Amino acid sequence: MENKRAQWGSKLGFILAAAGSAIGLGNIWKFPGKAFEGGGGAFLLMYLLIVPLLGMPVMLSELSVGRASQSNVVDAFKKLGHKGYSWVGWMGWTVAFIITCYYSHVGGWVLRYVASYVVEPRRVYGDPLGYFYGMLGYDPAADATFMPWTVILFAFLFLAICAVVIIKGVEGGIEKFNKVGMPALFVILVILFVRAATLPGAGEGIRYMLSLDWGKVTPQTFLIALSQAFYSLSLGMSIMVTYGSYLPKEENIGKNTFLVCTMDTLVAVLAGFIVVPAVFATLGPDGVGKGGGFAFVSLAGVFEHMPGGAFFGFLFYLLLLFAALTSTVSLIEGIVAFLTERKGWRRTPTTIVTCAILFLIGCLYTCSQAAFPLKGVWFDFANGVTFPPLCDAMEFLTDRIMIPLCALGTCFFVGWVWKPESVVAEVERCGVKFRLVRTYSFLIRFVAPAAIVAILLVSLLTGTTLS
Ligand code: PFF
Repeated sequence: MENKRAQWGSKLGFILAAAGSAIGLGNIWKFPGKAFEGGGGAFLLMYLLIVPLLGMPVMLSELSVGRASQSNVVDAFKKLGHKGYSWVGWMGWTVAFIITCYYSHVGGWVLRYVASYVVEPRRVYGDPLGYFYGMLGYDPAADATFMPWTVILFAFLFLAICAVVIIKGVEGGIEKFNKVGMPALFVILVILFVRAATLPGAGEGIRYMLSLDWGKVTPQTFLIALSQAFYSLSLGMSIMVTYGSYLPKEENIGKNTFLVCTMDTLVAVLAGFIVVPAVFATLGPDGVGKGGGFAFVSLAGVFEHMPGGAFFGFLFYLLLLFAALTSTVSLIEGIVAFLTERKGWRRTPTTIVTCAILFLIGCLYTCSQAAFPLKGVWFDFANGVTFPPLCDAMEFLTDRIMIPLCALGTCFFVGWVWKPESVVAEVERCGVKFRLVRTYSFLIRFVAPAAIVAILLVSLLTGTTLS
């Protein structure tokens, strides 16, 4: 059975959906911590150069492959006449699958915190770390672990919301949801920005975010910024191919690429200017940590000391929730689009079964945080074979190996096999002239692949976490 291919109902619909995919936990949860670690303004400057020089060319390439092939990511390469590159599609599809397993559970944690700030902000403030660990199934006081049922329930709810949106389809669900979610996200972001900037003592954090402290910058900082940019722009995982394939032929993909990258970067930078100054103001520079603890633990101190803190805390997690939902929807859409097209399966049951499988594997991720010592296997040349917790192994596999490989495959395919001229033709299809042809060709053929190979080498040779 051949399902009719969906299309975006409007120009704005696509832009908001692609921006919704890009703007996610990566921007608000990961970016501020990395910017802080990487020397504030210096990291920011590097990031602002990486996005146009490396992020935009790769995004333009992925969107072009999608729109030219009008196909899901696995079949896209075959449809363009290069079956040998289907592995790139498979890799992207698999990355999307693995990431969604854990991303949706982190979405569940966020949903839990939205509820926490409504119901029991005092409990969160009382012992932020204990509260966070407690959510994940660990009681530090008794040094005991237990099954994190509550957060599993929240992850289930989170995925159920995603499933409903996806079942409603591209135009009826994803597009409509993003049309409400994305503007809401921007409004909340601006409110929080004003609030953070006017906190007494925030100036020091703002100065830090503008200072060029090159002492903190190493070659690895550059690679961290680069892999953050890929993750943040949803590149190297099939999403932009899938979303590009729903774009009508008369749409200007060059302009769309520019808009999506700009919005994504704007949100990341704004999030940096909210979180870092707010933490400086209330906890001091030592209060700035990164990773899960950053968004879930340090920020409790911020909201506790802020007038109207519980309300702003609720708003912050609501913002994170919107961001996580729109990104998860895009990831699941990539998976479902492939299954419905390739196998001819119907959208509703496919979505339900996919979400159920994602949920179950995600449970292993959440449980391996504390409740059970589930391990994965890992290898790098610095440390040999190691057995990190399953949750870390899943992120290592996607962020350090598979995303760079998939992005590298795309660059190679577009730069040397399908040729930049095909992308130029795709861009010019709507009647505009693509003025940066030589720059684009050079970036996609040489610069982007070299930078991606550097990520792969550094993470494999030194075992450094670049994510
Ligand atoms: N770009 C998203 C973020 O920054 O959180 C994460 C993501 C979403 C990655 C969708 C990949 C993807 F396909």
